[in-house]
Amino acid sequence: MAHDSTHDPEALLQDALARVATANDADALRALDREFLQKGGVVASILASIPNLPPEKRKETGQRANQLKVAIEAALLEKKSALEGASLDAERAGGDFDATLPAAREARGSLHPITQVTRELEDLFTSMGYTVLDGPEVELDWYNFEALNIPKDHPARDSQDTFYCDKDGKVVLRTHTSPVQVRAMERIKPPFRAIVPGKVFRQESTDASHEHTFHQMEGLVVGKDVSVGHLIGAMKTLLRGVFGRDIEVRLRPGYFPFVEPGFELDARCPFCKSGCSVCKQSTWIELLPCGMVHPNVLKSGGIDPEEWSGFAFGLGLSRLVMLRTKIDDVRHLLSGDLRFLEQF
Ligand code: PHE
Repeated sequence: MAHDSTHDPEALLQDALARVATANDADALRALDREFLQKGGVVASILASIPNLPPEKRKETGQRANQLKVAIEAALLEKKSALEGASLDAERAGGDFDATLPAAREARGSLHPITQVTRELEDLFTSMGYTVLDGPEVELDWYNFEALNIPKDHPARDSQDTFYCDKDGKVVLRTHTSPVQVRAMERIKPPFRAIVPGKVFRQESTDASHEHTFHQMEGLVVGKDVSVGHLIGAMKTLLRGVFGRDIEVRLRPGYFPFVEPGFELDARCPFCKSGCSVCKQSTWIELLPCGMVHPNVLKSGGIDPEEWSGFAFGLGLSRLVMLRTKIDDVRHLLSGDLRFLEQF
């Protein structure tokens, strides 16, 4: 219906109210809303005409337009809830209505497998007196390398291809959780035990076993007379917690500039007796690089290596999750693909 904005507002209101009263579904109400209230609608065009009216009429016209708007809004709202109520009543009165049926369940997500394993390990380690620490993902070169006994031109930098964040190469995305070792030493007085789960980043060509972003969990214990025996004990406890039973381990020499001696700790493959695809037919799985904290690192953290010693380990959390859940491609983990995530 075309409206003339010079129409008597009272007549407009009666017209609108009558049509709201006879509207019998939500679509009809929406159409009336559009016609009267929305941009370009009746009320808007009345308001737009005000500047062309003689000055003494402007105020009154403005007020009336507003009254019209408020009254129509209220009528629409009331009719909307009446229609909704009626449709509910009709549904209830229908023969197939059953108030005892359970309501539709809302879909709920689940914790990411990395979060699940992280929380389990946090529980396990806090029960052994460890503190859970955090550290920055955007890290200074100092903490990521230098303070860990890896100077600028050290060849060990080649094994951790780095994302640099500034021109001078002073700020990097951390390539491991080890920088938090020195940050922890600066903040906490020894003796202490800490774990640091978190995200790390490397400049990688990605494939089934390499991803630019993955998760590690650092462990650090500083105390008096801490020995390799303590290290092995802690690692066995960790594996028992993760796999639910005792797992045989072996130590091989491993090189990391921030530990001395350094080891690769291998775990007996939990999935086979004589070789399988997970352990690449070797029955051993390389899982835990670790070692005794290098005196230079203790010094970087302001701790006297004559008085204190410690061990550190760098658990590959992403790798552990893959092992435990038999995921064959690391890229699934951070893909955000619901078909993958819904399995956990
Ligand atoms: N930070 C090392 C890495 O990411 C692992 C490591 C941690 C080794 C602690 C020894 C001790 O490769």
